[in-house]
Amino acid sequence: MDFHAVYITCLFSLIALTCAEPVKFVDCGSAVGKVVIVDINPCPTQPCQLHKGLSYGVNVTFSSVVESKTSTAVVHGLIAGVPIPFPIPIEDGCKSGIQCPIQKEHSYHYVNQLPVKSEYPSIKLIVEWELRDDNSKDFFCIKFPVQIVN
Ligand SMILES: *[C@@H]1O[C@H](CO)[C@@H](O)[C@H](O)[C@H]1NC(C)=O
Repeated sequence: MDFHAVYITCLFSLIALTCAEPVKFVDCGSAVGKVVIVDINPCPTQPCQLHKGLSYGVNVTFSSVVESKTSTAVVHGLIAGVPIPFPIPIEDGCKSGIQCPIQKEHSYHYVNQLPVKSEYPSIKLIVEWELRDDNSKDFFCIKFPVQIVN
């Protein structure tokens, strides 16, 4: 998407009070799924700047390779390569826009919030977001850089 297209998308999205941006991500081992697109809302510049005290919308579009009754999200912040648990309000993927049981070869939108607490330090880090199936295998594992700002 070029700048113009992003601008137009944002302009239209602003009317709907959102401005979701596809972010560049690294796949860190989506064993039983395939990631199509990752949207963070709002994220007008990359790496996404996450303001303390605000909450960001995360929308991961993926397709599943397996059936699963459950789906569980696990989020870490990687600080200098060390994974620190990043708490999210709802860990149950089946309560995050996904209709369970998950079926094979279906496409899903996983939609959740990433709250940025005011006590977090102002640093750059990598967010690692996993969604696991019944057997703890990853539907998706994505990594994207963010910067926490005041
Ligand atoms: C999530 O992203 C997909 C693909 O961009 C879009 O079709 C869908 O409407 C989004 N869902 C929400 C709740 O934003």
